[in-house]
Amino acid sequence: MQLPPAGAAHDEREIEAVLDVMKNNPTLEIGENVEILEKRVAELLSKDHGVMVNSGSSSLRLAIDLLRLEPGDEIITSPLTFSTDIAPMVQSGIIPVFADIEPDTYQIDATQIPELIGPRTKAILTPNLCGNCPDWDSIRSIADQHGLKVIEDSCDVLDSWQRGERTGTRSDISVTSFARSHAMTAAGTGGMVGINSEEDLDLCLSLRRWGRRSESYLYGSRKDETAHFGELADGTPYDMVFVFDSIGYNFEPNEISAAYGVVQLKKIDEFNGQRHANWQKLNDFMQTREGVTVGQTQPDTDTTWMRFCFTINEDAPFTREQVQQFLLERGVSTRMVWTGNILRQPGFSDITHRKPENGLPNCDHAMDKALTLPIHHRLNADHIGYICEQLDHMWSHYA
Ligand SMILES: Cc1ncc(COP(=O)(O)O)c(C=O)c1O
Repeated sequence: MQLPPAGAAHDEREIEAVLDVMKNNPTLEIGENVEILEKRVAELLSKDHGVMVNSGSSSLRLAIDLLRLEPGDEIITSPLTFSTDIAPMVQSGIIPVFADIEPDTYQIDATQIPELIGPRTKAILTPNLCGNCPDWDSIRSIADQHGLKVIEDSCDVLDSWQRGERTGTRSDISVTSFARSHAMTAAGTGGMVGINSEEDLDLCLSLRRWGRRSESYLYGSRKDETAHFGELADGTPYDMVFVFDSIGYNFEPNEISAAYGVVQLKKIDEFNGQRHANWQKLNDFMQTREGVTVGQTQPDTDTTWMRFCFTINEDAPFTREQVQQFLLERGVSTRMVWTGNILRQPGFSDITHRKPENGLPNCDHAMDKALTLPIHHRLNADHIGYICEQLDHMWSHYA
């Protein structure tokens, strides 16, 4: 059987929405689709404002900037992560402080955070890695006790709940991604920053597009202001729309991808439901087998795994490489668990950081022994049935 690869799943509705923009918005000016997507996704992230950008990585870059930190400040984070969670910290001279992960959930171990807090620690940033979630209530309460900000990287899942509330209710900033293989896509790309204050909204908008004040006149706190002539600091009369307030980027979204994304968002329950069913079917199979430990969903959490994570135990009849090779030959592609211990990745091995005295053994174990299988929403019960069949052959083969 040929398994469909992860990626965009669309039908005539997305095509119509995209064509509609091309026909009726010939200048492709940012407009109602970006606005609708920002509003609806902000709700899922439990935030007052959403700022759409061109990727999840861009949204992480902006989230770090919104903390307004100084070089040498620290952010506590997970070592089992994605590269662009850590890259903006390093680029800005911010020091990542790594707490180990819980071995069973693959998420940051919140109990390790308090002892890692130092005089320059300013925030906790951690992903809902692979769609599972850390214990956000513990993270929020530690942050409150120590005056820290919380950033939720929800690039791997959209619409996750813990103890009856959306996970984003515990964060100061939440971000998500609309990359092709994520919960939904905005025509293959996109991301969102979820924030609460008008001040952050203006800064985020400005950074999104060149650092220019025009953005707050277009979409931010100056939206209804018509008068925009003023003076520069040196007294020069100036059109203030063209003032550059911050050192920005170009992370602009576009109407075509937002229009596609608005349709996808209407299907989020369907997509997440398919992923749930796929995870459950694989889990039912794996629970009947010896030699592997399946990733546990965080207690009291209703979320959607992005891939099926499991760890190969010492007593397993096969090695991880054998599993990968066996499945690859049968058309089932496996993957590592994101970065593994990011400090063991060549691009990050020399970064300035802090970590617990006894190292990051759980994260190292995940890097050495864990693996993921696809459960994305382009796969149906037959596809997962095929994967289970191949796993069954594998166990027989190595018995
Ligand atoms: C946890 C996490 N954060 C951030 C990203 C980056 O998102 P994007 O691909 O949209 O830049 C990814 C990867 O896709 C991810 O898995």
